[in-house]
Amino acid sequence: MTHDRAALDALLTEKRRFAPPPEFAAAAVVSDPAVYERAEDFEAFWAGWAEELDWFRKWDTVLEWNPPHARWFDGGKLNVCHNCIDRHLDGPRRDRPALLWEGEPGDRRTFTYAELAQQVGRFANVLRDLGVKKGDRVAIYLPMIPEAAFAMLACARIGAPHSVVFGGFSPDSLADRINDADARVLITADGGHRRGTIVPLKANADRAVARCPGIEHVVVVARGGLDPVDMVAGRDHWYHDLADGVDGDCPAEVMDAEDILYILYTSGTTGKPKGVVHTTGGYLTQVHATTKTVFDLKDDDIYWCTADVGWVTGHSYIVYGPLAAGATVVMYEGAPDWPDKGRFWKMCQDYGVTVFYTAPTAIRAFMQWGEEWPGGYDLGRLRLLGTVGEPINPEAWMWYHRVIGKESCPIVDTWWQTETGGIMITPLPGITRTRPGSACRAFPGIETTLLNDAGETVDAGYLAITRPWPSMLRTIWGDDQRYRETYWSKWDGVYFPGDGAKIDEDGYLWILGRVDDVLNVAGHRIGTMEVESALVEHPAVAEAAVVGKTHAVKGQAIAAFVTLMGGREGDEALTAELKAHVASAIGPIARPEAILFAADLPKTRSGKIMRRLLGDIAAGRALGDTTTLADPAVVQSLKDRYEAKEG
Ligand code: WT7
Repeated sequence: MTHDRAALDALLTEKRRFAPPPEFAAAAVVSDPAVYERAEDFEAFWAGWAEELDWFRKWDTVLEWNPPHARWFDGGKLNVCHNCIDRHLDGPRRDRPALLWEGEPGDRRTFTYAELAQQVGRFANVLRDLGVKKGDRVAIYLPMIPEAAFAMLACARIGAPHSVVFGGFSPDSLADRINDADARVLITADGGHRRGTIVPLKANADRAVARCPGIEHVVVVARGGLDPVDMVAGRDHWYHDLADGVDGDCPAEVMDAEDILYILYTSGTTGKPKGVVHTTGGYLTQVHATTKTVFDLKDDDIYWCTADVGWVTGHSYIVYGPLAAGATVVMYEGAPDWPDKGRFWKMCQDYGVTVFYTAPTAIRAFMQWGEEWPGGYDLGRLRLLGTVGEPINPEAWMWYHRVIGKESCPIVDTWWQTETGGIMITPLPGITRTRPGSACRAFPGIETTLLNDAGETVDAGYLAITRPWPSMLRTIWGDDQRYRETYWSKWDGVYFPGDGAKIDEDGYLWILGRVDDVLNVAGHRIGTMEVESALVEHPAVAEAAVVGKTHAVKGQAIAAFVTLMGGREGDEALTAELKAHVASAIGPIARPEAILFAADLPKTRSGKIMRRLLGDIAAGRALGDTTTLADPAVVQSLKDRYEAKEG
């Protein structure tokens, strides 16, 4: 878990309360607390939200629940892209900006809903011309440029499930995801801007595609100015060449509510990331409902979510939710500290951002950078702040409230996961009295509880979700057995998210962090086994065990304990080499912060590595129970050496 004991105790004695400002409450999308009781009939509640969307054919049943498989709005027909764009074209939204984009070098592009329709329609026709049909998978490996949103929406328009891969992932990670989803087409760019340099996406893509026999076409968006790049004749095409003269009108495919919208890979407790499958009708219903109510979106809002479209937050709360709600969305390509640490606040000022959604790790970085950066800009249009991705410590919450929100913006701490598709636990900003560090309570229509291993209700234990919800994952791509085992085998018919939590006497939830072998580094999920497999691929490494260690900005950082082949001695050079090796095998986000070479790792008598004890060492805690160890001396000597090295 992310919190140590002292931090946890402090959390649970948190007594500060923040009521919504009266003007905010009076005008809020949700201002009546009775919404929770009314949503007790959760099928009727969600059906009410589904009614707000355009359906080509209405559903026959709201929910069919054969645990662990749900079908929402079965028999209904709709298209997600139509709902995000076409639905807005007949009214005043038509000529309002859908997307306000800024590149890291400062270049800008703006698209109204009418212009977005043309861009997406053209992209969809390009894909159709390449032979992409309903049901074909398309991989997307792009920087944060408008074409990332166009490509996703174009796929949705023609019914081709997309699989977006974060641009910071390595060629190997990209190849694994392409092959698992069996994608036919890859959409990438020559490069993207990041902290003043160009990330060479096409070169990475080439290394990946060399391992992907199923890829027939690579579509390359010109962004990084890297022309000439290597283009393989017949396989690789510049997007601007393909799109030249292509019509922007493209009829939207009629999709079943349960057709797949996308696959998105996320880390689990094994070495292999899993393809989370999201479908159409229920997903759109929940992201639409939560976007409108949690972010209190009105037509004149300027909404900015700082996530990358490579993560689920970008899918649900940059693209699908906000556009379905007809919002004006700010999108930014680059780093928050480029050209200086005021970049985000300059953008908030320049675009008049009213709703701002970011991660606790970013907030902790802003705290370290100092108040003078936000202090240098006018943030007066901000009216609502959000966080997501990891537990937020009360200190960071208070800083966000005071320095960014000027004590007048409600903060929504939203708990959810790639698998849940949409927000599950959150304040409603017009009615909830928030508490720093608490995600407060389940969204209307969602039911959560805390359980122990025996399935008994407790006030500190595992978070559990006791009812199906519309944007839930439907399966793991190609591995329904893993879907059942990972999420539905702990208790009967109850979903296990993998988080620990505590509930206070007023029913507020305090999420404590993962209880499995998944780390949360700077809001990104990384499986310990993934990093271990990358380490043991290195010829010098015999065995590796990876644990999380508390990090002031990232929440958690990666600590690796490594034994070497043939009694080799570890040194500084090898440490650097192994860190670089992991970064290039998975991506820079997985780079270990600390590596400790050991003659032996603590194991049980049956040979299982005791990660829990290594976690104690990395956290500087007293060692837990060591009685099951084959050789208790191993762990004490490791602890001594770790402390000597890391302080
Ligand atoms: C894990 C899911 C949801 C989009 C970003 C992460 C942690 C997420 C919170 C929060 C405490 C949180 C959980 C969860 N998490 N939001 N508000 N408070 N923890 O998506 O990569 O699928 O990770 O992130 O541990 O299980 P993800």
